[in-house]
Amino acid sequence: MNLDAFFNPKCIAVIGASRSPEKLGYLILENLKVTFQGKIYPINPNASEILGLACLPSILDIEDIIPDMAIIAVPAAEVKKVLSDCIKKKIKAAVIITSGFSEIGNKEAELELKNMAKGKIRLIGPNCVGIYQKGLDMLFFPRKRLKRPSEGSIAFITQSGAFGSTLLDLVASEGVGVSKFISIGNKIDVNETELLEYLSKDLNTRCIAMYIESIEDGKNFIEVAKRVVKKKPIVVFKAGKTNKGKEAILSHTGSLAGEHAVYSAAFEQAGIIEANTTEELFDFAKALANQPVMNSNKIAIVTNGGGFGIVATDEAVRIGLEVPELSKESIKNLEKFMPAYATKKNPVDLTGDATTERYEKALSVVFKEKEIAGVVCIGLMQIPTLKEDIINVLRECKVYGKPMTICATGGQWTTEKTKILESYGIPVYLMPERAVKSIKALYDYGKILKMK
Ligand code: COA
Repeated sequence: MNLDAFFNPKCIAVIGASRSPEKLGYLILENLKVTFQGKIYPINPNASEILGLACLPSILDIEDIIPDMAIIAVPAAEVKKVLSDCIKKKIKAAVIITSGFSEIGNKEAELELKNMAKGKIRLIGPNCVGIYQKGLDMLFFPRKRLKRPSEGSIAFITQSGAFGSTLLDLVASEGVGVSKFISIGNKIDVNETELLEYLSKDLNTRCIAMYIESIEDGKNFIEVAKRVVKKKPIVVFKAGKTNKGKEAILSHTGSLAGEHAVYSAAFEQAGIIEANTTEELFDFAKALANQPVMNSNKIAIVTNGGGFGIVATDEAVRIGLEVPELSKESIKNLEKFMPAYATKKNPVDLTGDATTERYEKALSVVFKEKEIAGVVCIGLMQIPTLKEDIINVLRECKVYGKPMTICATGGQWTTEKTKILESYGIPVYLMPERAVKSIKALYDYGKILKMK
């Protein structure tokens, strides 16, 4: 049974839909109601109506239709009975939000669910927050507390519901879009490997980001990942790098984390890009989803802040990128329009009175330089001479066919501009090191694609 019932349902039942606005079963129904266009059946034996929708006591009482998917949010002791009803009703897919299984040592109950479901119904969870995508929001977080991202090209698989959801909130407020979000929790059935395969065929997804605590079918995962990375990049953040961290994983999703070095080696072998910090996960993903790969390690840095240019240069050299001298011809071209006090070498410093026009011309020179494979552009938006049309200039840089990452450090004014740039698929970073590391990810992925 494939996974379409999870991602293209026409009818959904919410089992454990609650009458109390603070309960998870209420919030799931509320968020589903404002996003999902299909039919919704709240199931609750103690209620006749919730949020204006007629309630039925059991899923077996639905007469006119078989829902494609059930969302289960009843206490752990009730899940077995509810799942058995779903199987009786021939429902194809269920997301079990409920906690209280192997993560607290309740392995037997979890195994029972797994065995019951085999060949009859597909399961996501338990102990998860489920799925978020355009038109399907089953997250139990109130929308005014957790912002949902716009539609974009990053798919995000997460073993931790809280880690995943709060990252969604963060990237949504930066203007970064997401194609699909899937929280897999204890993953007794659908796991990261099957999702990789599924997402590799998803036309809206251009990069797959993953937060992972454990992978049980390592060999298969590597085989699948090797195939998928030929089509689209995969970025993974693996948690549980220390013994204490591994202990914490056991009581979080009930899984065995394994040696981190083994995971790192496997990721490398599979052509997966590893994020070493939580920040790097989306930093890399948003560059990989939206920018072309970088064909060599030679970058140009263009800045309107001298110090930022130096920090970016240091970071580039530290991580194995080159900031080469520009050709005589390029320097001559820069001299034509740059003031005497501006630096016409790489890193190119347009100085604190840089205009949009100065950026436009300088970017054209460095992008056209044959040896330069990508550009890190530092655009400090606070300076008075920089006008709003800088956004169009940066947007137009895609004509050069080379990657670019932007660093824009600052507060509210800068954040507003960042959001606009992100909505055009231009990856923007708060700090120069992050912009440099993210362009390096484009170089690393370029090397992966060149490998046989
Ligand atoms: N079928 C349908 N509805 C049922 C039911 C059943 N067999 N048994 C209970 N219900 C109804 C209840 O009547 C209640 O509705 P009401 O509030 O209108 O009375 C609703 O389902 C919820 O049941 P309740 O007993 O109040 O449970 P709860 O809401 O306190 O807790 C969970 C249920 C699933 C939220 C809780 O067990 C849990 O697992 N919480 C953690 C979940 C989590 O964090 N997951 C993600 C981790 S990343």
